Amino acid sequence: MRLDKFITYAGLSRSEAAAAIKAGRVAIDSIIAKNPAEKVSNSALVMLDGAVVDGSEFVYLLMNKPAGYVCEANRPDSVFTLLPKIYAKRKLSVCGRLDKDTEGMLLISDDGDFVHRIISPAKHLPKVYFVRLQYAVTESDIRGFESGLEIDGGDICRPAKIQTTVVPEEAFVTISEGMYHQIKRMFLAVKNEVLYLSRVRTGSLSLPADLPRGETIRLTPEETARIFH
Ligand code: URA
Repeated sequence: MRLDKFITYAGLSRSEAAAAIKAGRVAIDSIIAKNPAEKVSNSALVMLDGAVVDGSEFVYLLMNKPAGYVCEANRPDSVFTLLPKIYAKRKLSVCGRLDKDTEGMLLISDDGDFVHRIISPAKHLPKVYFVRLQYAVTESDIRGFESGLEIDGGDICRPAKIQTTVVPEEAFVTISEGMYHQIKRMFLAVKNEVLYLSRVRTGSLSLPADLPRGETIRLTPEETARIFH
């Protein structure tokens, strides 16, 4: 790949990249590179202003979102403030927002097709949430969720599955869409209330149990593919 193209992955336009190279701000394997057309090998370490440039076209990130952060950008309490600085220049989007008080699996990427495949209502990708409720789950709740619940505002949900646990007030809920506050509204529709909510799985990829809250990992191509299988 040409050096000026490589530098665009740091968030610069092609002409800004060429100017940065000519100004001596770019090094390949610790040697200042002055030619924007120079070819960069796959094993080269490229730095701009002393910071390593990640030459991947797209990144696929998984954050264990803590409560207290919103999914909108440009706010002091944004989840984007929790990301490692190396991703700061990328045009990242969250794949399916979580509420401020919801925790768990947040996928973030700059690959528009990938984001679309996750959030598109037509794809019906299953998402699993762990819920702690005010009251115990009932058989009637399970049947209601399975048959397609009507929630406030008249929206009809696609069939959803409740998997109970040994704790009567705790369960796993699988939905295959992502309406605004959907899980909370579904439980309100059966006269219950969500006290705690965490997304634990998207498609076939689970939130790693050892990923601390607030931390982000980069998904491997295998993990990224697993989401859709
Ligand atoms: N459903 C909700 O109610 N909130 C979320 O954050 C995600 C799903």
